[in-house]
Amino acid sequence: MKPKVIVTRNFSGKWIERLKEFADVTLWQKDAPADREWLISNVKGKDGAIVMLTDSVDRELIEAGKGLKAISTMSVGYDHIDAEYARKNGIVVSNTPDVLTDSTADMGMALLLSAARRIVEGDRLVRNKGWKEKWKPDFMLGLEVSGKTLGIYGLGRIGKAVAERARAFSMNVIYYSRTDKRVGFAEYVDFKKLLSESDFLVVTVSLNEETRNSIDKAALDAMKNDAILVNISRGPVVDEIALYEALKGGNIAGAALDVYTEEPVNLDSPLVNLENIVLSPHLGSATIETRDKMAELAVTNLIEALKGNRPKYTV
Ligand code: GLV
Repeated sequence: MKPKVIVTRNFSGKWIERLKEFADVTLWQKDAPADREWLISNVKGKDGAIVMLTDSVDRELIEAGKGLKAISTMSVGYDHIDAEYARKNGIVVSNTPDVLTDSTADMGMALLLSAARRIVEGDRLVRNKGWKEKWKPDFMLGLEVSGKTLGIYGLGRIGKAVAERARAFSMNVIYYSRTDKRVGFAEYVDFKKLLSESDFLVVTVSLNEETRNSIDKAALDAMKNDAILVNISRGPVVDEIALYEALKGGNIAGAALDVYTEEPVNLDSPLVNLENIVLSPHLGSATIETRDKMAELAVTNLIEALKGNRPKYTV
């Protein structure tokens, strides 16, 4: 008999078909995150689940899915899963790192450059008929990146890939990481020094109780007044109210966010009305190629776990 699995998003026909060869698939069909009630009632009696970062895989869901052997998330982040509780219940939890490292690091650099060179602001200006003169010596001046110091907060796979890209832009790279993972061309510094020396601070650390709100008012106050903050990790790492105050008051020069405390970002957030911030809608891994690889890996991880093998990536 085929194993029974639940899939919470119809993510890629090809890979879902592959999964169907191996398992009986219960698939959430709508083009929206799965309903909580649907999840709770359909996880019952399943052997495995493929979930998205929009699903809260908490104790209630894990208990509803008693008998689950594997949970595979189509994401690198797994802060939406109570992984410890799942593991305690003998469930193998897997994720999709590596395949999204380059696209997410590219996004980090794209945001950094957009904020530094005021690209989005310039686009708005052109569309709003604000470009009046052919060229002007002091028109929309941004910040140079070459020769500047890029600080990386959390040197995992994505942090390292950002560091490599920054090197190609002739930046000096420093980093802070809980475990000092030495990399040849980047200098390890403590958190205080990371904040005070970075011209550009890129947040790539994963969200956990230690990192939640770690970029708070005190951290923002410790940054240079002409620094730019880029967040491609998870929204709750940054205190958005403190960030608003810092941007408004000129404590830092700019920011670029791909992730938010609430997603989609609350349009009542005062951040949305600031000029010196670039806002993108959680697009870190959003390339055609990467999403295909993530889908393949999420399916492969689940199949391997249900066969009793250790998937390539477990958390
Ligand atoms: C995206 O944010 C991911 O965790 O894959």
